[in-house]
Amino acid sequence: MKVVIRNSALEASVWAAHYIAAKINEKAAKTSEPFVIGLCTGSTPIETYAELAKLVKAGKVSFKNVISFNMDEYVGLPESHPESYHSFMHKYLFDNIDEPKENIHILNGNAKDLDAECAAYEQAIKAAGGFDLFLGGIGEDGHIAFNEPYSSLNSRTRVVDLTTDTRIVNSRFFGGDMNKVPSQALSVGVATVTDAKEVILLVMGPKKARALKDCVEGPCSHKCTASALQLHENAWIACDEAAVGELMVNTYRYFKDLY
Ligand code: PGA
Repeated sequence: MKVVIRNSALEASVWAAHYIAAKINEKAAKTSEPFVIGLCTGSTPIETYAELAKLVKAGKVSFKNVISFNMDEYVGLPESHPESYHSFMHKYLFDNIDEPKENIHILNGNAKDLDAECAAYEQAIKAAGGFDLFLGGIGEDGHIAFNEPYSSLNSRTRVVDLTTDTRIVNSRFFGGDMNKVPSQALSVGVATVTDAKEVILLVMGPKKARALKDCVEGPCSHKCTASALQLHENAWIACDEAAVGELMVNTYRYFKDLY
């Protein structure tokens, strides 16, 4: 695991955007095969997406040969709802870059057969060639995608129940009313993420400090599903100074020295 610590969330977000753009360009220089990326939603990736949009506008990178799969979507929320992850992704990324519509994949939380939707999603990821890179965030409880504590570290895309804690945290997007936050979601599994050749987790702010500590220093455990990245050979964490408050001084110094 490699932890990149920057002074501000903006600097860490810009680092991640430039890293992703470089990876897309690196693959494009070698092959005509598409770059397959996993994408996340939430407050955290907004600045990374804004920087990627800037890079596309400046002609520094193109998403024309990028295929994306989002990590999750609420069950039962209409796609047109302003807080659906469909709406989020179009607003913050897809409307601002040149990725072809047919390359965009987001789980359908209104599918008649949710299990079939999840199985087809795993198949589509495989058919696209698997993830070159997965961009994720982390929950205050250490979840990666909507893999809540005690999800299997071997889990795949499936229907998940959201914990009360997560619904309370996400109620800030639903007028502060946790009852308006759907109680279920479709989510890629932990193993869907760790199958990616490379993973970047964005971790910003003091509210994520405990989760970051568990992810980096804690045991690799289903209690903090993001800790599964300890077994990944190419996992990055991009975080700001505010998120590292719970790390041991030596851990902090080690990563500051290296990255
Ligand atoms: P956030 O969500 O970016 O809104 O904090 C991250 C997550 O819950 O995984």
